[in-house]
Order: sequence, then structure tokens, then C-alpha cells
Amino acid sequence: MSTQKPAGTRPEHPVALVTGASGGLGQALAIELDALGCKVAVHYNSAKDAALAVQEKLTNDSVLVTGDVGSYEAVTAMHAQIAERLGPVDVLVNNGAIRRDQVMAMQKPEDWAAVIQTNLIGSFHTARVCVPHMLRKRWGRVINVVSPSGLIATAGQTAYSASKAGLIGFTRTLAAECGRRGVTVNALSPGFMITGMTQTLPDHVVESMEKKAPVPRFVTVEEVARSSALFLDQDCMTGQVISIDSGVTIT
Ligand SMILES: NC(=O)c1ccc[n+]([C@@H]2O[C@H](COP(=O)([O-])OP(=O)(O)OC[C@H]3O[C@@H](n4cnc5c(N)ncnc54)[C@H](OP(=O)(O)O)[C@@H]3O)[C@@H](O)[C@H]2O)c1
Repeated sequence: MSTQKPAGTRPEHPVALVTGASGGLGQALAIELDALGCKVAVHYNSAKDAALAVQEKLTNDSVLVTGDVGSYEAVTAMHAQIAERLGPVDVLVNNGAIRRDQVMAMQKPEDWAAVIQTNLIGSFHTARVCVPHMLRKRWGRVINVVSPSGLIATAGQTAYSASKAGLIGFTRTLAAECGRRGVTVNALSPGFMITGMTQTLPDHVVESMEKKAPVPRFVTVEEVARSSALFLDQDCMTGQVISIDSGVTIT
């Protein structure tokens, strides 16, 4: 017979932090998590009005928070604010990210570093602050938003791709550290979505991406956000990359 302490139970209204909830996918994730009964901390970096508009759509208790995830001090202050208003974070969605695409031979070192600082080190900062509370509670969820670029090559994206591939490694290893205490850690890999991050791409690049995918269309932010229920429900799914990407990573 197992001598393991059983994992805790899912709170009736888990507290969820969605970083970058002011952006395209983040908005949809915040709304979906609210619909699933979460109390959502709606995070923005610079787009306060967009985040406020998201918060207005939520039905449960929520809080608006801001801060650059690349700063550990900012993340610590943000978590203190969430804990005071809603309680410590039970569901962390590391969604906020940037891309500064350029072929490596021409890339400015400061741009490369900014992408790693925000996308990879930023996800460590939020997890470092939130996960100890989840471990104590013996229930928690970490969802790291990654990208097909973390799994396959996309020229011009060495920084973005390294940040997302690094985040996949981080996901698997953190999952191994946390599973015994009821905390699952997974990666969500969306395909191409029309959001602030992609709207400046040239038309010919967008069209060729759309045609190349086995399911020859872009995925919507709402379709990707619908996976939230899976992450919340499954106690035994951990360390996985869940791709909702029109099949681009199998071609
Ligand atoms: N769009 C796609 O095709 C695609 C495909 C695969 C994966 N993804 C991933 O999906 C996630 C969401 O991206 P999106 O497409 O929704 O892009 P988006 O609309 O540009 O949203 C990006 C979000 O990241 C936030 N952010 C930027 N810098 C930040 C920082 N230093 N600290 C904290 N937050 C910061 C932004 O906040 P403010 O706007 O408030 O500054 C914004 O809310 C990202 O992880 C992205 O890598 C996107």
C-alpha cells in the first residue's frame, strides 16, 4: 500500500494568474478560467485599458495586476497583491511573452537577452513565487505557453525558439519536482493565431503558414483557451506539451 500523503483537492474557486492577459491569447485564457470558476488575476505589462476591458467581462472576483515578469521584485510584489485580494495563486499561466525576430548573424545582443529575460526567466520568476504555495496546499497547476518554434526550426527566431525550448525543459523538470505534491506542470503549444504578436508579419509569410499546416487554417485564441479545462481536471497529466497547432509540428 502507498505511504504517500494524498494530494489535496482542487479548491472550489482556484486563484488563477494569467500573465499577459491584456494580449490576444491571454484575454481568452482569463475569460475561460473565469468560466471554469477561477478567481482571475488579470495581468498586463503596458496595455492597462485592454486588461481592464478583460476584467469587465469576468463574473467571479478578480484583480488587475501589472509588472514586468523579467523582474523578480516586480513579480514578488504582484503576488503579494494577488494574495491579499484573492489568496495565493493556485493556477499559474505563464502566457506573457515577446518576440524580437532577426537572423542570428544580425541580431542585437540586447534583443536576444530581452526575449530570454521575459519568456524564460520571467516564467521562472512567477513559478518561483507561486509554486511554494501550491506545494504547501498539495494542489496546483502551472501552464507554460510555448510555441511550435520551441519544437521546430523557424529561421529568424533563435531567441524566441531558445526561450520556448528552454521553457519546455523547465516544464518537464519542474513537473518531476512537483508531482508528488499534487502540482502538475504542463506546456501549452498553440499554432499560429492572429494576435498582437503576429499582426505585423508580412502577408506572404502568413499565407504560406496557413497553407502549410495539415489543418490548413489558423487556430483561434478561443480554441486554444478551451484546453484550460483539461489542465485543471487532469491530476495525472504532467510534464506534457499539449499542442493545439493545426498539426504544424508534424510536417
Ligand atoms: N500568436 C501566435 O501565433 C502564437 C503562437 C504560438 C505561441 N504563442 C504564445 O502565446 C502567448 C501569448 O501571445 P499572443 O499571441 O497573445 O501575443 P500578444 O497579443 O502580443 O500578447 C503578449 C502579452 O505578453 C505581455 N508581455 C509583454 N512583455 C511582457 C513582460 N515583460 N512582462 C509581462 N508580460 C509581458 C503583453 O502585455 P502588454 O500588452 O500589457 O504589454 C501581452 O499581454 C505567448 O507566450 C506567445 O509566445 C503565440
